[in-house]
Amino acid sequence: MAESKVLIRKAQEAAQYSHSPFSHFAVGAAVLTADGEIFQGCNIESSSYGLTVCAERNAIASAVVNGHTEFKALAVFSENGALPCGACRQVIWDICGDIPIYVADREGELRQHRSSELLPIPFDDRVLKGAQKG
Ligand code: THU
Repeated sequence: MAESKVLIRKAQEAAQYSHSPFSHFAVGAAVLTADGEIFQGCNIESSSYGLTVCAERNAIASAVVNGHTEFKALAVFSENGALPCGACRQVIWDICGDIPIYVADREGELRQHRSSELLPIPFDDRVLKGAQKG
């Protein structure tokens, strides 16, 4: 099966575990590591709303805590095929670099974007290095 199909299926599976009692908007994500492992995440909402963490960032955190530093692709699933939010675009760029992002909805409609397309003029570690003194 194509890489995108497998990742989307894993993202959809993860959305089942979404903890979203406030928005009722379930999101699932799956990230593919350079060595072919897949890590899943779902959105987890908090009663203190600002503490909510998106599916994409939870998937990436799960991969990172398992020792992964190189990534090939990421998939996001929601009922209506929502694109990653701004915060997730930043973290995807920081941790995964310029990878394809597959976005799917309940009909299995698939869109594909690169992270560089979703965050075309990024803030990143290059700026921080440039600002270091001494
Ligand atoms: N959400 C994600 O999981 N990923 C995104 O990129 C956009 C938003 C979640 C956060 C919150 O639980 C719900 O969707 C509504 O914003």
